[in-house]
Amino acid sequence: MSQDQGGTPEEPGLRDYVAWHDAYQDPSSSLSARLRQVQAQISAWLDRTPGDVRVLSSCAGQGHDILGVLEDRAYDRARVSGALIELDPTNAAAARDRIARLGVAFDVVEADAGTTSAYAGLVPADLVLLSGIMGNISPDDIERLVRVSRQFCAPDATVLWTRGAQDPDLGPDIRRWFTQAGFDEVACDEWIEGTGMRVGVEQLTAAPEPLVPGRQIFTFYR
Ligand SMILES: C[S@@+](CC[C@H](N)C(=O)[O-])C[C@H]1O[C@@H](n2cnc3c(N)ncnc32)[C@H](O)[C@@H]1O
Repeated sequence: MSQDQGGTPEEPGLRDYVAWHDAYQDPSSSLSARLRQVQAQISAWLDRTPGDVRVLSSCAGQGHDILGVLEDRAYDRARVSGALIELDPTNAAAARDRIARLGVAFDVVEADAGTTSAYAGLVPADLVLLSGIMGNISPDDIERLVRVSRQFCAPDATVLWTRGAQDPDLGPDIRRWFTQAGFDEVACDEWIEGTGMRVGVEQLTAAPEPLVPGRQIFTFYR
């Protein structure tokens, strides 16, 4: 198994998630196309959501999405706070450096975001970012994550998710699982800039659920 591709559900093995971020330095990469769309959706959410807001990013990497948006929107920095959960210490350190440069009120927590305990004290959030997760966990885990994401939400919170069109294309299932979990779809952007990337935005219309610590949600297999 090559480190670039990572493992399979049967034989898990994490990719090099520091090097993975290099694709963001190439504006023509499909990951850069996805990032632009994620950032556009975060900006649109900020435009329609006044007041102080909290953001939670699960498996946040170096936080390019929310921190990139706040880099461009200095006028929003004082009203946006939150937390990034990231397993890799190098990625976490890169996020902390950028947070310090921007002067924003974000914590970076080095923890396994696949367990509900990691979210204790960090939620509820008004915006939950689930970017770059659903292509790396099993379909059962995706369905569980969708259901459990209600525990991360403040009333009327928005959840942003990504999942490419790779085989099997679980996009229609994921959209249905969100509906069944009490969310209304705000947007589902597909074939972003001609790539197989997809970005979904969902708003919680059901009541949020309290966090239940100590539960397994998902396991990254690559
Ligand atoms: C595909 S990247 C996505 C990063 C970021 N969300 C983005 O879209 O740019 C997945 C990230 O999840 C991190 N990760 C993998 N397993 C994790 C876990 N169990 N808990 C927290 N982070 C994890 C990796 O280190 C990596 O930075």
